[in-house]
Amino acid sequence: MKTATELPWAGPEAGTSRSSRTSRTAKAGAYVILSLLLFTFAVHLPGHSSCLGLKFRPTKPKTVEERVKHILHHTPLIDGHNDLAIYLRAYFNNRIYNESFSKPFAEGGLRGHVDLPRLKAGMNGGAFWSVFWPCPENGTDYSDQNYHYTVQQTLQQIDLLARLRQAHPSIFSPPTLTSKEALHNFHHHHNLISPLGIEGLHQIGNSAATLRQFHALGVRYATLTHNCGNRFADAALWEHPLRRADYPVWGGVSPAGRQLVREMNRLGMIVDLAHTSVDTMLDGSRAPVIFSHSSAYAVCPHPRNVPDEVLDAVQGKRGLVMVNFAPDFVSCVAAPDREDGLPEFVPQNSTLQQVARHILYIGERIGFDHVGLGSDFDGIEHTPEGLDDVSKFPDLVAELLRQGVSDHDAAKVVGGNLLRVWGDVEAVAEEMQKAGEPPGLFVSAVPKEWQDYLVRTKTMALLDFLMRDDLASLSSSESGGAPPESLVEYVKDIRRFSLHRSFRPSRPKLPVLPRQVALGMKTKKLHEVTHFAGYIDRLAEDAASVSGNEFTHFVDFGSGQNYLGRALASPPYNRHIVAVESKEANMAGAKDLDILSGLAEREKRVRNKKLYQRIRDAVDPSQHHDEAALKRAAKELGIPDQDITTIDLRSRKELQATYAVEEGKGTIEYVVGRLEHADLTDVLSQLRGQEDGVRQEDLRMMAISIHSCGNLSHYGIRSMILNPCIRAVAIVGCCYNLLTEKLGPPTHEPPLSRPNLQPINARVARESERRDPQGFPMSERVSTYGGDGIRLNITARMMACQAPQNWTDEDSDAFFTRHFYRAVLQKIFLDKGVISRVYHGQETDTESPFNSSTNPVIIGSLRKQCYTSFKAYVQGAIAKLTTNSDFGQYSQTIKEKMGSITDEEIAQYEETFRHRKRELSAIWTLMAFSACVVESLIVTDRWLFLREHSDMVRDCWVETVFDYRESPRNLVVVGIKK
Ligand SMILES: *[C@@H]1O[C@H](CO)[C@@H](O)[C@H](O)[C@H]1NC(C)=O
Ligand SMILES: *[C@@H]1O[C@H](CO)[C@@H](O)[C@H](O)[C@H]1NC(C)=O
Ligand SMILES: *[C@@H]1O[C@H](CO)[C@@H](O)[C@H](O)[C@H]1NC(C)=O
Repeated sequence: MKTATELPWAGPEAGTSRSSRTSRTAKAGAYVILSLLLFTFAVHLPGHSSCLGLKFRPTKPKTVEERVKHILHHTPLIDGHNDLAIYLRAYFNNRIYNESFSKPFAEGGLRGHVDLPRLKAGMNGGAFWSVFWPCPENGTDYSDQNYHYTVQQTLQQIDLLARLRQAHPSIFSPPTLTSKEALHNFHHHHNLISPLGIEGLHQIGNSAATLRQFHALGVRYATLTHNCGNRFADAALWEHPLRRADYPVWGGVSPAGRQLVREMNRLGMIVDLAHTSVDTMLDGSRAPVIFSHSSAYAVCPHPRNVPDEVLDAVQGKRGLVMVNFAPDFVSCVAAPDREDGLPEFVPQNSTLQQVARHILYIGERIGFDHVGLGSDFDGIEHTPEGLDDVSKFPDLVAELLRQGVSDHDAAKVVGGNLLRVWGDVEAVAEEMQKAGEPPGLFVSAVPKEWQDYLVRTKTMALLDFLMRDDLASLSSSESGGAPPESLVEYVKDIRRFSLHRSFRPSRPKLPVLPRQVALGMKTKKLHEVTHFAGYIDRLAEDAASVSGNEFTHFVDFGSGQNYLGRALASPPYNRHIVAVESKEANMAGAKDLDILSGLAEREKRVRNKKLYQRIRDAVDPSQHHDEAALKRAAKELGIPDQDITTIDLRSRKELQATYAVEEGKGTIEYVVGRLEHADLTDVLSQLRGQEDGVRQEDLRMMAISIHSCGNLSHYGIRSMILNPCIRAVAIVGCCYNLLTEKLGPPTHEPPLSRPNLQPINARVARESERRDPQGFPMSERVSTYGGDGIRLNITARMMACQAPQNWTDEDSDAFFTRHFYRAVLQKIFLDKGVISRVYHGQETDTESPFNSSTNPVIIGSLRKQCYTSFKAYVQGAIAKLTTNSDFGQYSQTIKEKMGSITDEEIAQYEETFRHRKRELSAIWTLMAFSACVVESLIVTDRWLFLREHSDMVRDCWVETVFDYRESPRNLVVVGIKK
């Protein structure tokens, strides 16, 4: 395959990049045909012949040696891995001024593979100088203590190279230069480009802080492992003795490793995958990766080499494989019988030609844009024949040229590719630093293989997939858009563990609520009350027919406006209701509605109308309802006290509703109070007729509730166990985010994970911090499951209220847009210093969504127009925060810090984060869907609690009582006593 380069006009090529010898040949062929055509043309057009002929006059052929010189002169040869530093340590104890080192190093003749004259002879342009320190003796001990010494030794090695550079300032560039600066120094000062590399994350001692400081000292790549795994990734080999890694600890990169890789991307530290396991090689990095010293597995099947599938991935990610010269990795055959899992070395092929073969193999498979040189000189005991040391690089380049590699491709192999990757890594870092954001929850929490599918699938299609599609037929589909298998399995599991929500009314035709009873109810409420009243009535009848005793009362836990109680007290049900409610305002409203519906009457006033009118006329109209003002006026008018007492001066609002008890009609009694437990003794003592000696034994009550919040559902269910008179329960729960935990301490600790909760909603903070013996879980089974019991974080519980099955395209889009705007505005606030970031990990941890948060400004909703664009939203929010008195605390800060924000700046923010909106929608959708299991678990736990009391409970079950589309919290927990 020599034709291409031997054609005289094919000389040094510039500009185009070709990746295979086939295309080079094709191109050369085209030149031949083109020149023949032109030549023929010239012959026939004598007047132009000289002109055309000049252009294609064959130039004097350059020798291969001349071409190599030309290449290495223009493009720095940058070796991916040079171990001079550890060599210096091993043989000279880091004494660089000791003559036995300094002289031969400067003048030539140093043992090993590197000294200054040979670097020069080999036309070296630079190298990544490794500051290697070996794996600790016990490689499986990932503790900080075990790495302590390694960090110290690594610093010594960095210091060693710094001193060596100071001793030869005209030879080495500082390691801290950018790729551009280093290239400049190469061209203008003939300096060796000299960044450093650490060879395994064991060298950072489990600390991102160490990694960052290594970067500051000039370390520009970090190999994820050496011959030992670590907290961050799995290795290809273990040592002591060297053998193929027999078990994966993480299955590639660990969760902490992903964080660290991201931090490397952010810093501009190149991710080096030499030494790592295949799974690690295939794991992700946003910036391109390198293999600083690894060869082709297909040529020599060594676990240190790069298999074809990984090569293909490297091409996709614009990465780089830098071929290692270590004889073991260069020339070998598989040896399946060997216990250490390593191949057999083949000495006769340990040659320069074989190294070239690796380069050609990779170049031909994935293109010469993705292959480089990583000698490992001074880190290997032996070298391939013909590649004895750093002076021999030109021979290798010559071999490549002879093998048909173009000058252009050869230039890329020696250093062009590395400079490209290095530059790309710097660009990614710059971008990430500019964006300044820690990794999103999406990237750090969602399995990597799901991310692409989730991001590219539209919300409605995603919901279909999650909740509606027939997964059996879907998973077998061959189409490119299919979800990853592990996601399909996950969705199947969630569906399997979720309770069904479909609903068919047990009675086809329920009584329609009388108009005056339906007053004030929205459609959803009407649906719920109509169905639940019918359900309760039927349940009570059925239970009574078994026990032979009617229910005397229905106790509503958290009755609110008492819609349910009013319906049950009205015809046709005519039941007796005890409504327990903590909010006085709710109760007052409920009583007004009772009056309107005819269940109660307003107290009558007894007044001397004339006298009353006189008093009223004497006060300002604004005081007509002010009893005290009216009384003062009466006194001033000289009306005698006893007359004043006969005029009822109370306002209408203060007049009591009165409830008449009539045979055959329903009644309502209100009990004010916040239920803090399930013992109803207090409530019962307030019942009408208690003073007349109603006997507790005669009471047969049912505890009922629709959508009572927090633990109230628990109290309702528990009340059956604690109070002899509660004979049955029928409870529909809701608002799981207000449940407290029984197993404490709370798993979510709001002040840490959501520092905003404290000032915003003190009740949530208080309730979630509390350890409540009546909190979740209720049942022994769930409380002790797996030893520690099951707990549910507040986020999971909140998401369980989201009812994703009911989302439409429009409302989910509006919903996510609102949330996207909110999130980006908080980011602006953070950047502008309105709010600050809060960390709760250790200082040395890499920042992530799991250990940092902010104290956001909760803005609430804005006018509709504010959601038409991000600009409108930001302006609307600023206006609200600076003018609305509720936000007084922010007003001054917002004016100061946000006053100068320009439209361009706002637009820039939206642009920067636009790509994250899909992440936000996708993760929200996935969480809401997954939370179906959470709700199912809570309901099942309540049912289990009843079952565990089979000594008292005759029967218990869960069923749906509302149409899911009308009211998604539609599961009732029912218990009937023996
Ligand atoms: C190596 O460390 C691991 C983890 O600490 C430990 O289990 C193991 O016993 C240690 N091996 C030796 C040989 O000390
Ligand atoms: C050794 O090199 C020869 C060519 O010189 C080649 O045919 C053979 O496959 C190589 N063997 C190995 C094990 O690389
Ligand atoms: C709840 O959150 C804590 C940390 O905040 C976490 O360790 C735990 O795994 C979470 N529990 C569940 C069930 O997700």
